[in-house]
Amino acid sequence: MQKRNKIILIKYLTMYVQYAIIFIRKEIQEKRGISVMANKIAFMNGKGGCGKTTSIFHIAGVLSKEGDKVLVIDFDKQRNTTDTFLMNTEKPVKTVYNLMEGKASASEVTAKCLFQTRGNAKPKYYGVDCMTSDLKLENESVIRKIDGNKLKDELNTFIVEQDYKWVLVDMPPSNMALNDICFSYLVDYVIVPFSSDVFSVRGYGDVMKTIERARTLNPSLNILGVFLARFMYNCAVDTYIREQIKNYDTFIDVQIPLTADIRESIMFGRPISYYKEFSKSRKAYENLVKEIIRRIDSFS
Ligand SMILES: Nc1ncnc2c1ncn2[C@@H]1O[C@H](COP(=O)(O)OP(=O)(O)OP(=O)(O)O)[C@@H](O)[C@H]1O
Ligand SMILES: [Mg+2]
Repeated sequence: MQKRNKIILIKYLTMYVQYAIIFIRKEIQEKRGISVMANKIAFMNGKGGCGKTTSIFHIAGVLSKEGDKVLVIDFDKQRNTTDTFLMNTEKPVKTVYNLMEGKASASEVTAKCLFQTRGNAKPKYYGVDCMTSDLKLENESVIRKIDGNKLKDELNTFIVEQDYKWVLVDMPPSNMALNDICFSYLVDYVIVPFSSDVFSVRGYGDVMKTIERARTLNPSLNILGVFLARFMYNCAVDTYIREQIKNYDTFIDVQIPLTADIRESIMFGRPISYYKEFSKSRKAYENLVKEIIRRIDSFS
């Protein structure tokens, strides 16, 4: 056999062996009742308005374009995430608050998000679902009484049943009770969007304190990183802030530009991946997702 053919044969054999290993591992896990769990990420900054909702919306778009199923959980009582994702859908009567108090099932508080692919096209489902928020989430004394383990089990069962690959959680800027529940029981990773101002940088300190506290119950909680979610190129302040946070070991060197595209697409309820084929903003979110995946792989 020629040397070139031998190399091709070895390449194919290696590929088949890799597929076989993934398949066998999945089979064993399923037989043992262990499911391949989704990547569960909280988006959090102790300061409001730094781009959490916007980032989740466009990241969910990138992931769904890749063919992955995504569950978005809105823990922010403002309901911006709920209203954005469910712009074209009738919202469920029950909310994530009802799920927490044990008065609704996970499926009852979840709705399918419909996105348009073209200006006047009928909105369609692309594998993104949203658990709806509730003004009552501000009631910290009630949240403190929630059984975190029970909520975690219910959520994990739902995630496996629905075959979600990603769970993206929108956290409010200042609700200690919710932060504690989410970081201690519900997610494995935290990502911190920054806007270019000193308050946002200070908000990072609050996130780190919450993470440290949660690690006593959830030692596997990891910080995926911080990134600039509304970056103005050619602006001295933004460049200065980027230089400041570049020194963090958690810094993700992908800046999301502050653009009209991003604002427009969110206003029309269409993630940028479904809005503009070629744009700097779309490329930036795609790069961010690549970096998130790379970091998650490096943890496992
Ligand atoms: N990259 C961007 N380009 C243009 N506008 C952006 C960008 N990121 C966020 N915005 C805008 O900035 C504002 C704040 O963003 P967003 O609502 O996502 O922040 P948030 O952290 O979710 O705020 P809150 O804490 O109030 O929930 C919104 O008007 C949004 O449209
Ligand atoms: Mg928000």
